[in-house]
Amino acid sequence: MSSWNEVVALENIPVLGSRVFRTADQDIAIFRTRDDSVFALHNSCPHQGGVLSEGIVHGHKVTCPLHNWVINLEDGEAQGADEGHAACFETKVEAGIVFINL
Ligand code: FES
Repeated sequence: MSSWNEVVALENIPVLGSRVFRTADQDIAIFRTRDDSVFALHNSCPHQGGVLSEGIVHGHKVTCPLHNWVINLEDGEAQGADEGHAACFETKVEAGIVFINL
């Protein structure tokens, strides 16, 4: 079942940056890539809970600020030899507004 939530204007997310959307029970990081794609992940690294919204965005990936795991923004999967998964959420942009499907 879809539950689209309006979260932020795209222009308010820096390119290669993020904003945090807080729900009742979790923080979700909304990332904007250089090509203006938008992705949403649970704001907690699958390794030891690093704050992914404070990581470095490159391509369609983010590098965790704590121990440099690289997480794929498209599916939340850790890359390379690391194994873990951050919950990811479907996003869409309509008329310059970002929505996520919770
Ligand atoms: S907590 Fe993210 S790499 Fe360790």
